[in-house]
Amino acid sequence: MTSQIDRVQSAFTRQAPGFGDPGLSLGREELLRWVVQSLPLGPETRALDVAAGTGHLSRAAAPHVRSVAAVDVTTAMLQELRAEAARGGLDNLQPVQADAGRLPFADGQFDLVLCRLGLHHFADPAAKVAEMARVVRASGTLAIVDLLSPDDADLAVRYNTFERMRDPSHTRAVTARELRSLMDAAGRPVADWSARDVELALDPWLDLTRTPDSNRRTIVQALERELDGGPPTGMRPRERGGRLSFLQTWALAQAGPTDRPARA
Ligand SMILES: C[S@@+](CC[C@H](N)C(=O)[O-])C[C@H]1O[C@@H](n2cnc3c(N)ncnc32)[C@H](O)[C@@H]1O
Repeated sequence: MTSQIDRVQSAFTRQAPGFGDPGLSLGREELLRWVVQSLPLGPETRALDVAAGTGHLSRAAAPHVRSVAAVDVTTAMLQELRAEAARGGLDNLQPVQADAGRLPFADGQFDLVLCRLGLHHFADPAAKVAEMARVVRASGTLAIVDLLSPDDADLAVRYNTFERMRDPSHTRAVTARELRSLMDAAGRPVADWSARDVELALDPWLDLTRTPDSNRRTIVQALERELDGGPPTGMRPRERGGRLSFLQTWALAQAGPTDRPARA
């Protein structure tokens, strides 16, 4: 039987070479700045980035902190991360291959634990958030950034179905309320919350995952139907100059102290 880790490794081995494509939202400066500028970063901060991928967030944070351990389960993603870190001269960035559910670190080892766009690939997000909470020190910060599902339960099912058609390693995006509950349950209630809509061009989003043509057609047709007044997909499609795009909502949820050390 295929495990969720198998699905993730297979999907992200395919995606790794395209992850730095400037047409994608993943490396968008403004989205990285939104997160980095809200974090308590300082020259002594020991940070951990969970499900770090090719290290978009790790690399944005690294110049402001003492060290960043970048954990991911997919070899090909960490290879890209290593190459990008070397290109950027980031010698305080340490790639670590591990499952987010079993982090090879001691309790309270980090001042800051981050996870961007990892949650919706986990089979058991509650266990993963608890594990992240374990390795951040009591007065440290846990910051999670992820896509949100629509609040309406039926629409959320439709929305997640389209996401999984595009990428079978997508499990489910949580709702805003669920994200808060996950952090509460891990003993790290949200102290700081912001959310924003992120517009994604449809074609590069589907190209990255090499979505099979039949699924691609189903997604495109559903978005076009919605634009013509048909049933909502939860993806909030738009069309400009014949090109389809859609909106995701990204939340940045932080648990931790509000006293922040000066930025490096
Ligand atoms: C959408 S990418 C996000 C990468 C990066 N955080 C970013 O924001 O650009 C999701 C990453 O999560 C990793 N991942 C998924 N499940 C994981 C797990 N259980 N343990 C560690 N990494 C995991 C995948 O390998 C992939 O690199």
